[in-house]
Amino acid sequence: MKLPKRNDPCWCGSGSKYKKCHLLSDELGETAPPGMPKKRGGEATVSPGRISPRRTVPEHISLPEYAVSGVPAPGKVSCKKGSAEQIERMRQAGKIARDVLDTVLAEVRPGIATDALDRIAHMRTIELGAYPSPLNYMGFPKSICTSVNEVVVHGIPDSRELAEGDIINCDVTVYVHGMHGDCSETVFVGEVDEESKRLVQVTWECLMKAIDVVRPGQKLNTIGQVIEEHVQRHGYGIVRIFTGHGIGESFHMLPYVAHFYEPNNKTILEEGMTFTIEPMINAGRAECVIWPDNWTAVTCDLARSAQFEHTLLVTAGGAEILTGGREPWFLKK
Ligand code: MF3
Ligand code: CO
Ligand code: CO
Repeated sequence: MKLPKRNDPCWCGSGSKYKKCHLLSDELGETAPPGMPKKRGGEATVSPGRISPRRTVPEHISLPEYAVSGVPAPGKVSCKKGSAEQIERMRQAGKIARDVLDTVLAEVRPGIATDALDRIAHMRTIELGAYPSPLNYMGFPKSICTSVNEVVVHGIPDSRELAEGDIINCDVTVYVHGMHGDCSETVFVGEVDEESKRLVQVTWECLMKAIDVVRPGQKLNTIGQVIEEHVQRHGYGIVRIFTGHGIGESFHMLPYVAHFYEPNNKTILEEGMTFTIEPMINAGRAECVIWPDNWTAVTCDLARSAQFEHTLLVTAGGAEILTGGREPWFLKK
């Protein structure tokens, strides 16, 4: 069976014109005429590679509490209003995270191993006097997360080399001046297909639209609401099992920040709060499968996934993007 033309009757037999019936869902890949393959989902493009020996940090770098034990301290739970001095330290952490992220993204190209990206990020982090927060956080073995194609989040840098057409999210968190700064970006490896470009673009728009509603007195759940509204028309899946989070003296703090609408969440944003927004958007279904390494999360249908993350400060006038910098490069001409 072939796809009907826009004004032909839909293949489903409803009698409606195709454009009014299954055209959009076919384009999104959710449906297809009988006998035709759906676009969604796919083949595995990533599998576990070799993980290099643990990198070390020089003695003058101050360590977060879990760096040796792997166990983050409970207690520092909530990121309530920071003092001016704490906020200044958050600014510095955000700035350094941004620098490291830019440094590593500049090296993304076909043929480079994700372990090499980890090494570059590790060295730059240390050069800037910071500790790479992921290193030994709950046992995580590397200094950044590299999540390629169908990997949603927490990909472990290893011997896999990037290939033309891949998409990769690099997630950088640093600990410096007693604070964590956390940001990530998804970029293209060489030329990628139009579907991937659209997924990445829409995911970026989700983060920007969410940041736009951040201000004191705003309901926290408005963040998820605007993301859900934006994603809906594209038919993508919003990942639910991983969320944004409060951040500061601890890597992950309350509140958690859902990227979907949670009508019963009554949290109100206050000036001085610092937290991340980090939507993970899947080209197919929202559900994830975790690899036996207990970290790598991949989409259940192997469709691609994109993510962007910023660390934000709630200010009187709205939000300050502590990990801000240039626009993502796919928006530039
Ligand atoms: N940077 C991730 C986040 O945005 C967390 C990574 S945890 C790690 O929250 F252990 F995988 F590094
Ligand atoms: Co985060
Ligand atoms: Co992150």
